[in-house]
Amino acid sequence: MRLQKWHGFSLWLVTLGFLQITSGAYVGINIGTDVSDLPSASDIVTILKANRITHVRLYDADARMLKALSNSGIDVIVSVTNEEVLGIGESPSTAAAWINKNVAAYLPSTNITYIAVGSEVLTSVPNVGQVLVPAMNYLRKALVAADLNFQVKVSAPQSMDLIPKSFPPSTAAFNSSWNSIIYQLLQFLKNTGSSYMLNAYPYYGFSEGNGIFPLEYSLFQPLPAVKQIVDPNTLFHYDSMFDAMVDATYYSIEAMNFSGIPVMVTETGWPSSGGSNEPDATTEHALAFNKNLISRVLNGTGPPSQPDKTINTYIYELFNEDKRSGPVSEKNWGLFFTNGTAVYPLILNTSDRITANSTGEFCVAKADADTDKLQDGLNWACGPGQANCSAIQQGQPCYEPNTVVNHASYAYNDYYQRMHSSGGTCDFQGTAMLTTADQSTGSCIFTGSSNTSSGGLTPSLAPSNPQSGSFSVVPLSRLQLLLWVICLALV
Ligand SMILES: *[C@@H]1O[C@H](CO)[C@@H](O)[C@H](O)[C@H]1NC(C)=O
Ligand SMILES: *[C@@H]1O[C@H](CO)[C@@H](O)[C@H](O)[C@H]1NC(C)=O
Ligand SMILES: *[C@@H]1O[C@H](CO)[C@@H](O)[C@H](O)[C@H]1NC(C)=O
Ligand SMILES: *[C@@H]1O[C@H](CO)[C@@H](O)[C@H](O)[C@H]1NC(C)=O
Ligand SMILES: *[C@@H]1O[C@H](CO)[C@@H](O)[C@H](O)[C@H]1NC(C)=O
Ligand SMILES: *[C@@H]1O[C@H](CO)[C@@H](O)[C@H](O)[C@H]1NC(C)=O
Ligand SMILES: *[C@@H]1O[C@H](CO)[C@@H](O)[C@H](O)[C@H]1NC(C)=O
Ligand SMILES: *[C@@H]1O[C@H](CO)[C@@H](O)[C@H](O)[C@H]1NC(C)=O
Ligand SMILES: *[C@@H]1O[C@H](CO)[C@@H](O)[C@H](O)[C@H]1NC(C)=O
Repeated sequence: MRLQKWHGFSLWLVTLGFLQITSGAYVGINIGTDVSDLPSASDIVTILKANRITHVRLYDADARMLKALSNSGIDVIVSVTNEEVLGIGESPSTAAAWINKNVAAYLPSTNITYIAVGSEVLTSVPNVGQVLVPAMNYLRKALVAADLNFQVKVSAPQSMDLIPKSFPPSTAAFNSSWNSIIYQLLQFLKNTGSSYMLNAYPYYGFSEGNGIFPLEYSLFQPLPAVKQIVDPNTLFHYDSMFDAMVDATYYSIEAMNFSGIPVMVTETGWPSSGGSNEPDATTEHALAFNKNLISRVLNGTGPPSQPDKTINTYIYELFNEDKRSGPVSEKNWGLFFTNGTAVYPLILNTSDRITANSTGEFCVAKADADTDKLQDGLNWACGPGQANCSAIQQGQPCYEPNTVVNHASYAYNDYYQRMHSSGGTCDFQGTAMLTTADQSTGSCIFTGSSNTSSGGLTPSLAPSNPQSGSFSVVPLSRLQLLLWVICLALV
């Protein structure tokens, strides 16, 4: 057999793990569907589950997706499309019908927690801006009438472009041409205990910043001592542009005399490839951004001015959307190809992965299954399925007998033991079956075997290449600092 075919895979395991840690902060993902070979709704949910994704945002209220997400344990933001905002904003009965069809019909089995009204309405369809808050109000009233307002909140994602000058954060303010709408929006959010939804893209802040901001700052990497980013008014240090953008939003809200409205980031990300005029869209940067973003968010702290506010965040996005128009980068924001393979190996702190209960059953390959299908299943289990396949590498305890059936059995079972409690099945295109017979032999211990000392269910980890955290903090001269801060303040 050709081990090489998937050997690479196991070294490039994706270990997302959009889990919620004790802080309560979470990282979710956006699901754009401008994809020519979009997987079926149930396959999408399989990919979400295999990667422990716990929160998703849809750009519409697609019936198949909402159905497939039922009883999945995944929290869902559904969206009113920009095209629908006008009709809803002009008619309470249209709003009520929308709630009945797209929300009430799926609760409680599909855990819809938010309705996102439009996508960056004020900046992308300004002529609809006047009815944005009325639309939100009508939807809210319909939720109240359906007695769903305690489960489902209403908000509206906005572009960072509403804040013309976001650095220094302490002086940031919304563009005053939208003052009255933003005032109504904030009042709605405040009255309903809902979050401000922010789309924040350090990628654009960096690539359009003409070199003013260091790349490290955009990628959550340590900053050289001479380039610490400091708000001259508050003297807060900003470790990342992401933090500065979120804080700029908090200060802008404060400048409107509102407080106590949490900011949730409904979109952020980094494209992994772009055209010849988009040199910053690389796999390396996309990986660094998303990996560091996840640990930043899961650390549970807020931006400098709001240290106790978690920054719940949705990564843009699940799939590369090949059908999107615009520059090449537009098609390359995804973490996954549609076959479920990761575009790049995103690594995450997997400290509190689900550890499955042993069922006393083992999932093994059928000896008479088609070899190509077994090979596909093996590739999938060791790749997107995140099975720990190290024991079937050459020289390892379960490598012999070196057959596809043997290796697939090990991989299928490892996948199954980790995933069955969250919906993983023992099927693999019909090439797998359950058995109560422990498959362990000698030093080859199958996951879930009662002979495994520590349960054998430790989560799979991708090899990590942590960036060097060893930069020394050289005291910064006041002048250097001031010059740098002034430069930034002039942006
Ligand atoms: C639905 O989501 C909310 C918010 O995350 C959570 O508190 C609740 O437990 C979820 N409900 C179910 C049934 O998963
Ligand atoms: C504010 O928004 C208006 C309307 O879109 C625009 O014309 C103006 O340039 C913006 N102001 C700033 C400072 O960006
Ligand atoms: C916020 O309150 C201050 C002080 O009361 C007032 O001067 C300012 O105009 C208010 N700003 C807005 C946007 O209402
Ligand atoms: C969390 O992230 C912030 C912002 O990068 C950082 O200042 C803080 O030290 C981190 N906290 C922990 C506990 O890692
Ligand atoms: C999945 O799709 C990508 C992109 O089309 C391709 O490079 C990759 O080889 C595919 N993986 C598998 C396991 O088919
Ligand atoms: C993972 O997170 C836990 C706390 O949730 C922390 O103690 C641990 O140091 C983190 N590990 C890494 C590699 O960041
Ligand atoms: C494991 O089994 C115990 C006892 O049967 C049960 O309470 C627990 O919820 C199970 N855990 C998971 C992750 O399935
Ligand atoms: C567990 O290990 C012991 C000794 O190593 C062996 O005698 C026993 O048969 C094993 N049990 C199973 C279920 O493999
Ligand atoms: C993968 O399995 C091997 C044993 O086969 C074990 O030594 C290693 O710790 C496991 N890796 C993880 C991340 O669980």
